Amino acid sequence: MYTDSHCHLSFPELREDLPRIRSAMAAAGVNRALCICTTLEEFEEVHGLALAHDNFWSTVGVHPDNEDVTEPSLDDLLRRGRLPRVIGIGETGLDYYRLGERTVADMEWQRQRFRTHIRAARQLDLPLVIHTRSASDDTLAILREEGEDGSPGSAGGVFHCFTETAEVARAALDLGFYISFSGILTFKNAADLRDVARFVPMDRMLIETDSPYLAPVPYRGKTNNPSYVVHVAQQIAELRGCAPEEIALTTSRNFERLFKGCLSTA
Ligand code: NI
Repeated sequence: MYTDSHCHLSFPELREDLPRIRSAMAAAGVNRALCICTTLEEFEEVHGLALAHDNFWSTVGVHPDNEDVTEPSLDDLLRRGRLPRVIGIGETGLDYYRLGERTVADMEWQRQRFRTHIRAARQLDLPLVIHTRSASDDTLAILREEGEDGSPGSAGGVFHCFTETAEVARAALDLGFYISFSGILTFKNAADLRDVARFVPMDRMLIETDSPYLAPVPYRGKTNNPSYVVHVAQQIAELRGCAPEEIALTTSRNFERLFKGCLSTA
């Protein structure tokens, strides 16, 4: 059994195709997926997927790249985070990749938004789903400042779609976080990332598609869907010299340990 720890099934290109995607998942042995929220506007639809299907769950959060959307208050996140089948907070974090004309100093709104998510996660004892791009120092610093150091009371969470260095992975692991690998791991030019995937301890690793984006080889460039997470597992199995089934089992157990809400019957 494979678990896709991060997908966007509410995005139009996947939503329209849901019955076929669910069949493909069943055929591939991908029997669980976490549907990730990126705006409050989208939440009802993401949450609806989790309410309609007993192998889907949802998060609540506003992605750092999303501007011109409702800015979430702490209360907005707390209220939705308490709903049944909401098992994580995110995706949230920092993204300085697309600054355009702006400077890092101009991105204070992003850092404030991230802090609001961390505070909600800690109050609810739900794990954080973290997006970080060109911003790992600030991401780690803000987590520490908000008390996320792996000590009791920490929300913890996952650095999703990991593309950072081994040093950043080490720092995230030291704060008690998990590391999730996507289809990027199968890309020809991702040799450095494959080295990171050799180093992350097996009991702290998750796999994901981040679909509809980032389809793994041999589907690179096509629309991704959760059934393709098998190819991420195969790549990790190759790197670690074990069977894909072992990666499936271990990453599924890790998912249950981190997103413990997926085990509740509510
Ligand atoms: Ni995502």
